[in-house]
Amino acid sequence: MCGIYCYVGKKKAIPILIDGLTSLEYRGYDSAGIAYVTDKINIIKEKGKLTNLIKLVDKNTDTYLGIGHTRWATHGSPNKVNAHPHKQGSITLVHNGIIENYQELKKLLTNYSLKSETDTEVLACLIDKLYQENHNIIKVLSKLNELIKGSYALGIILDDDLNSIYAIKKNSPLIIAKSDIGNFLASDIPAILKYTNQYILLNDNEIVHLTKDKITIYDKRLNVLNKDVYTYDGTIEDVSKQNYEHYMLKEIYEQPEVIKNTLLPFLNGDQKLPNIKKYKQIHIVACGSAYHAGLIGKYLIEKYCHIETKVEIASEYRYQDNFIDKKTLVIFISQSGETADTLACLKKVKDICDTIGIINVFNSSIAREVKEVIYTKAGCEIAVATTKAYSCQVAILSLIAYYNSKTENILNNFNKLIQDLNNLLKNDYSKIADLIKMDEKVFYIGRGIDYTLALEGSLKLKEISYINSVAYPAGELKHGTISLIENDTKVIAIVTDKNLKDKTISNIKETKARGAKVIYITTTFLDEESDFYDEKIVIPDNQLFQPLLTIIPIQLIAYHTAKLRGCDIDKPKNLAKSVTVE
Ligand code: G6P
Repeated sequence: MCGIYCYVGKKKAIPILIDGLTSLEYRGYDSAGIAYVTDKINIIKEKGKLTNLIKLVDKNTDTYLGIGHTRWATHGSPNKVNAHPHKQGSITLVHNGIIENYQELKKLLTNYSLKSETDTEVLACLIDKLYQENHNIIKVLSKLNELIKGSYALGIILDDDLNSIYAIKKNSPLIIAKSDIGNFLASDIPAILKYTNQYILLNDNEIVHLTKDKITIYDKRLNVLNKDVYTYDGTIEDVSKQNYEHYMLKEIYEQPEVIKNTLLPFLNGDQKLPNIKKYKQIHIVACGSAYHAGLIGKYLIEKYCHIETKVEIASEYRYQDNFIDKKTLVIFISQSGETADTLACLKKVKDICDTIGIINVFNSSIAREVKEVIYTKAGCEIAVATTKAYSCQVAILSLIAYYNSKTENILNNFNKLIQDLNNLLKNDYSKIADLIKMDEKVFYIGRGIDYTLALEGSLKLKEISYINSVAYPAGELKHGTISLIENDTKVIAIVTDKNLKDKTISNIKETKARGAKVIYITTTFLDEESDFYDEKIVIPDNQLFQPLLTIIPIQLIAYHTAKLRGCDIDKPKNLAKSVTVE
């Protein structure tokens, strides 16, 4: 949710800022802007994707310091005026986060005339006012926490100090990177990999002063900190599209490899999974697809470990009574490890009960705050719609359930899974995409685990192809939604559970009787010839890892449909990958 990229060093800054913003564009692409220093501060910003900004900048400009921003609009529409950077008085800044009390602050800042509708510009006024009063920006930043409600990662430059960048963060991600060519600030690590793999993590309320050859970090009492420099275990290749047309396709095809990387350390005994049998109840908290992965976790933990498990959307859990105590385990699932609502839930419960994070991004905020972290090894995921990170989350949750119930044959099922995934990925599902590409609505139905896959399939389809797709528990359709089925309505039905097969098939027939065109997804074991479907996809069976196979055609149907509809697959409209605002 908004990307920040700042650089000061010995190379020309504009190409570096553009490179960095390009890799952060998944965080928002409503508008973008940069501020750079020559003999003064210059600002260029533009509405829309980064390509619009690129047309306006001169990459040869003699500038060696700049701050950049790619925006996902929260306050104020996505136009040029609301784009960052914002300048007020001596302060020019870029911001990722939300200033919740900006309306109250505005009343105290009547001497300033605001150009935009953003909370960020109000913050620029506030910082400028405080800076005019005591001329020490480090001190000013150390007081922000007392004045501002909300979240912020800020990159700041000053009219009267053209050699420095200042920064602070609270509840929004920001890292520092150091290299031979200069120093950087970025919203995430992949964005710096073209230049360096050396980075420093920032904690909330730490203040940064960057010059071309010095990094100084202060705590809020203004003590200088000596922070660890980490080396990122990855290269720029990890974040390149290689020969794929889209990142999403590349990431779908990476699934056998990343699932293997995620599970093997546990299967080999190199790493241990947590003992969950000691808890009376488990809560799983997440957002988006990670929530859908959590739903699979619930089914498996309840079925195999017999522990009552509840899955909650983080933005709901955050404001509910949670009924937790020492016998509760709360599992947080997050690809980015930065999702604001998930992080807020963690902060809410972590002193009451044990917490585990299933996290993809190493050392991210949630990974650092949970009691125990299990990393998924999906690697960098760039496409906004998650695929491989979701599968790795499902893989880990499955293994937790099986290890805690001493299930047998895990290794056999795992080996078969990897083989079958590779074969399944050779199939072409564009025929199904062609069938639904003109539709306004598509239904996904299923029961049990198949319903959770229907939820994920429907989310994938709507987020990237913009077809209004809904997922329904197959048995629930007749309680209302079946009224929307008419001649030629497409129903994608998932049936992989033999115990629920007949029930779901009855529900499929109910839709067929009302004119639906049915795309039936089932397994080799359950497959049979019949007349209740129009198209059939048969996937291999797997006793323990079935969802990881079932999801493949579902992801590819969404991908091919979006492609046929000419959508921007990796950057669907209105979305952002890492949601660091409430
Ligand atoms: C966004 C992404 C989803 C993701 C969700 C949760 O909405 O577009 O793909 O599932 O956030 O993100 P997290 O990083 O916490 O898994």
